[in-house]
Amino acid sequence: MVKRLPCHIVLVALVLCTAAVAQGPPSTNFDESKVGSYTLPDPLAFNDGQRVLSASEWMERRRPQILKVFEEDVYGRSPHPPKTLRYKVFDKDKKALGGEAIRKQVAIRLTRKKRGPVEDLLIYTPAGAPRPVPMILTLNFSGNQAVIDDPGIKLPMLWDRNTGTRERAPESSRGSDPNFEVRKVLARGYALGTIYYQQIDPDFKGGYKDGIRPLFLAPGEMEPAADEWGAIGAWAYGLSRAMDYLEKDKDIDARRVAVMGHSRLGKTALWAGALDTRFAMVIANCSGEGGASLMRRNYGETIRNLIEVFPYWFDANFQKYAGHADLLPVDAHELIALIAPRPVYVTAAEDDQWADPRGEFLACVAAGPVYRLLGAQDLGTDQMPPLNQPILHTIAYHIRTGKHAVTSFDWDQFLAFADLHFRARQ
Ligand code: GCU
Repeated sequence: MVKRLPCHIVLVALVLCTAAVAQGPPSTNFDESKVGSYTLPDPLAFNDGQRVLSASEWMERRRPQILKVFEEDVYGRSPHPPKTLRYKVFDKDKKALGGEAIRKQVAIRLTRKKRGPVEDLLIYTPAGAPRPVPMILTLNFSGNQAVIDDPGIKLPMLWDRNTGTRERAPESSRGSDPNFEVRKVLARGYALGTIYYQQIDPDFKGGYKDGIRPLFLAPGEMEPAADEWGAIGAWAYGLSRAMDYLEKDKDIDARRVAVMGHSRLGKTALWAGALDTRFAMVIANCSGEGGASLMRRNYGETIRNLIEVFPYWFDANFQKYAGHADLLPVDAHELIALIAPRPVYVTAAEDDQWADPRGEFLACVAAGPVYRLLGAQDLGTDQMPPLNQPILHTIAYHIRTGKHAVTSFDWDQFLAFADLHFRARQ
C-alpha cells in the first residue's frame, strides 16, 4: 500500500526541490561537512617563498605578482584607455525628482574612435549638499531608466540576453529595478552614478561582437587571446572610464567614489577596484564564485559551473581551472587583498547558498594579514557574525536574511560604511 505523505511534508519537499533547481545542477554541494580540505595561497609569500615584510614590499613587489595572475588566468588583461577622454554632458536638470536632486547624463566614449561606442552615465547629486559630494558608482542590470521613475532619463536600447536582440526600453520600465534606492542615497548626502552594463559589453555568448572588445583586437585577431579580457574586464573598464569623467566633474569628489555592484556586477566591482586604485571603496553584494567566494571551497557554485554557463565573463585561460581550483595560483582572498588598504565591503544572503556566504566570509578573513600589514583593520574575527549583524571595519562583511538581491538593509549598511570611512576624509 502506498502511504500518502502529510500535506505539509509534500509542500516542504516541493519548496526544497524548487530551491535546489534554482541553485544549480544536482551535483552542487551544499553540505558544509563535504567541502573537503584545501590550502589557500599565502598572499604574504613572494612567488619564490620569501616573506613579504613591509607595506612597500607588498605594494611594489608582491601586489603586482598577484595582479598578474588575475590578469593572465582569471579576468584577462584590459587594454590601455584612450589618451584623451571624450564625453558630452547631454542633459542637466537642476530640479530633478521634484527638486530633491540635480540630474546629469553624460555620454562617455569608450575607445579612441571618434564614432566608437559610448556609455551613458546617469548622475544624481543631492540638491543643496555641500559640493563636491562623495559618490556611489554602480553598473545596473536593467538600464538607467529602471533605477528610478524619472521621465528625464534617456530610454536606452536594452539587450535581451535570451534572444541576443536589442530594443528600446519601454516607458513602463521606468523605476522597475527593485535593487535601487536612489532617494535613500541622496538623503544621506551621496551622489549616485550608474551605467547600464550591457552598453559596454552585451552579456551573452557571442555578445562581445557588439561590445567594446572587438575594437581592441590586435591585427589579425578574431577574438581576444587566452589572456585577454572577458566581459567582467570590459565592464570594469567602463567603470574606470566613468571615473576618468568624474575626475573632471567639479560636483563630485573623485577621491570619495565607492564602486558598488551586485552579483556578476559585484565580481566586476571587485575587479575594477583591484585594477583602478582611484576607487576609494569597493562594495561587492552577493558576488559569489569568481567574486569574493573562495574558489577552493567546494560549496555552491564552482569554477566549472561558471565556465559552463558564462565562459565569456573570464579569459580563456580560466577554463583550465574547471575542477582544478587548487592549481590556480590565487584565490578570492587575494582579489580582496588587491584592494587593501582601501575599505572593502563583502555581503552575503542566507538564501543565496549558491554564492557560498561562508566562502565569502573566509575570503575576507584570509585577506586580513595584508590589511594589517598596511596598517588597516582586518575583520577582527574568524567567526561568522550572526544574521543581520554587519562587521564594519576596513574590511566589512554581513550575511543577512533573505535572497540574492540588493535590499533596503544592504543600502543602509553601505551608507553607514561610506559614512564611517568617507566622512573622516572630507
Ligand atoms: C548566476 C551565476 C553567478 C552570478 C549570478 C548573477 O547565478 O552563477 O555567478 O553571480 O548569476 O550575476 O546574477
